[in-house]
Amino acid sequence: MAITTCVFDAYGTLFDVAAAARQAAAEPGYEALAEKWPELASHWRLKQLQYTWLRAVSDAHCDFWDVTQDGLDWALEAVSLQGDDALRQRLLDLYWELQAYPEVPEMLKALKAGGLQTAILSNGSPPMLDGAVQSAGIREVLDDVLSVESVGVFKPHSRVYDLVQERFGCARNEVLFVSSNGWDAAGASGYGFVTAWVNRAGEPMDRLPWKPAHVLSDLTTIPQLAGL
Ligand code: LAC
Repeated sequence: MAITTCVFDAYGTLFDVAAAARQAAAEPGYEALAEKWPELASHWRLKQLQYTWLRAVSDAHCDFWDVTQDGLDWALEAVSLQGDDALRQRLLDLYWELQAYPEVPEMLKALKAGGLQTAILSNGSPPMLDGAVQSAGIREVLDDVLSVESVGVFKPHSRVYDLVQERFGCARNEVLFVSSNGWDAAGASGYGFVTAWVNRAGEPMDRLPWKPAHVLSDLTTIPQLAGL
């Protein structure tokens, strides 16, 4: 069946989650990050995600901004930078307005020009997603921004993926779902979406029962995958 709807994960897929730590490390006053920012960014992301999975399976939902702060606090302590309140606040401010990957605006514009429906489907809370979408200037090339907050559980719960059909009324196999998170692409494949895993870092494939239909190194070929 032809693809009618392209749905994107947000953090790590459209928005560069390492940008906050990388950018802070280059600013005056945060020299302590100079060598530690890659390790901090990696711990921050992994803990943030682990907390979403643990909260989903233990039925203890909170919003993504809370797990983002909890993950950061764990990461700061892991690299011995806990207690630096100015640094913590700067990292959180930068996370609120993360940079989009350079190819994102043109790619979304091409999808819209080709008549496809476009949306974000993210763990992010609506205010966080608003902040990132506005700072990337991509709101007008998205038909909608869907947040897990409307179902109160994190990905990869199927209730999250249901939001796409509820919003767009399309069949599962008309949806191209794009994520840089191997586990999210796997979950969406199991759900029945056509999936593309954006593997910028050349990571190994997740050992899960479902595999992505496509593996990409960036987002430039999404319009072709969508049939344009
Ligand atoms: C999201 C996280 C998983 O945007 O990156 O949903």
